[in-house]
Amino acid sequence: MSKININAEYLRNFVTDAEVEQMSKEILSSKQVLTSGTGKGNDFLGWLKLPTELDASIVASIKEDVARLAPKIKYFVVIGIGGSYLGARAVIEALQSEFASCMPSNHPFVVYAGHTLSEDYYKQLLQLLDNNDYAVAVISKSGTTTEPAVAFRIVKAHLENKYGKAEASKRIIAVTDARKGALHEISVQENYKMYVIPDNVGGRFSVLTPVGLLPIAMAGYDIDKLLEGARDMQKHCYESDDLFSNQALYYAALRNLLYRKGRKVEMLVNFLPNLRYISEWWKQLYGESEGKDHKGILPHSLSFTTDLHSMGQYVQDGERLMFETVISVAEPNAHVSIPADDANLDGINYLLGKSLTEINHNAEKGTVIAHRDGGVPVIKIEIPCVDEYVLGQLIYFFEFACGVSGYTLGVNPFDQPGVEAYKKNMFILLGKPGYEGMSL
Ligand code: PA5
Repeated sequence: MSKININAEYLRNFVTDAEVEQMSKEILSSKQVLTSGTGKGNDFLGWLKLPTELDASIVASIKEDVARLAPKIKYFVVIGIGGSYLGARAVIEALQSEFASCMPSNHPFVVYAGHTLSEDYYKQLLQLLDNNDYAVAVISKSGTTTEPAVAFRIVKAHLENKYGKAEASKRIIAVTDARKGALHEISVQENYKMYVIPDNVGGRFSVLTPVGLLPIAMAGYDIDKLLEGARDMQKHCYESDDLFSNQALYYAALRNLLYRKGRKVEMLVNFLPNLRYISEWWKQLYGESEGKDHKGILPHSLSFTTDLHSMGQYVQDGERLMFETVISVAEPNAHVSIPADDANLDGINYLLGKSLTEINHNAEKGTVIAHRDGGVPVIKIEIPCVDEYVLGQLIYFFEFACGVSGYTLGVNPFDQPGVEAYKKNMFILLGKPGYEGMSL
């Protein structure tokens, strides 16, 4: 059963049910192309069946790695970029305390590398690792991406220096291609524990492979529940052909309708700051899948109420380019009460007796009504809470909707040719072998 509900109440002035119904044929055709594997990029559809078909031995092996490494490390360094780290980070940051890095914990704290070339960042990381026990996951499907390769070279040298080569090789887990790539070569030679990213799963759709599952499990979260949520959402997405019941189809239809009405920017909005990396993962998923052939909705994200005090003015009153998709969470995981204060010097006694969540929900309601009245269509994605099961559903929901939406837009949602342009220029500038004599 879907724990995700699309609420179109705040879209009424912009999109009618009749328009959604008119889109039905097109959306169902995109669903058919996706699920039958007859569209462009159909060699990258392995993610569709991951929740039901992921080999149980992979999950068991990840749990063994956690049992082996977690008791002896404080930090787990996850080296990867784009689809090779954003999914794990999205789930971990959604579930962990905002202050996890400053708190004692029974689980390793995950830190990230390979997603930047900042020298200062690596200096700071090495300073942290100097004084703390750690292990490493190096994640790269191609095994040749420059940023994680540089990060791994730096961290590997540090690890070997700290623990010796033999122990270091037991503390490194590689997640990469089954046969090719420099990372695969190094891992074979150095005898690292290795997980495979299936050939038919692209980076941004790989969170339910060891790419995401290993770091999430190492951080102490329940990957069985995550997969169970994804499985239930897989069933939901496949089963229904009614646009108003199938939440992924409904979302894909609404965003394409809005795009055709000139809404070129989608702002994914949360009212819980721990969802900000869900937005980062979502931006990659939709940006890389749809932004091509000079088409595609520009994915943008905001965290409210924080950003109401920075971007709120533009959203309310600026150019009407956008629509807003709010992830609306019904229940918090914890409660904090507002203390009574008879003096009421701050004037907020009228809030007494209300929970912070009730106040936040009213901020959310006030915001979506204001934005709608200011000319911004709002899609609400309602979820009951933030836990592993619901996140599993949310991940699969967004992935399935992305495939359907991309085909409806008329692009190949599973390639990313544009990502190569900067790499080529960087290689020319850095003199990479094979690029000699080329100029910008
Ligand atoms: O979604 C994608 O394919 C990309 O974002 C990749 O994940 C990213 O470029 C990293 O590539 P790789 O895993 O090959 O290092």
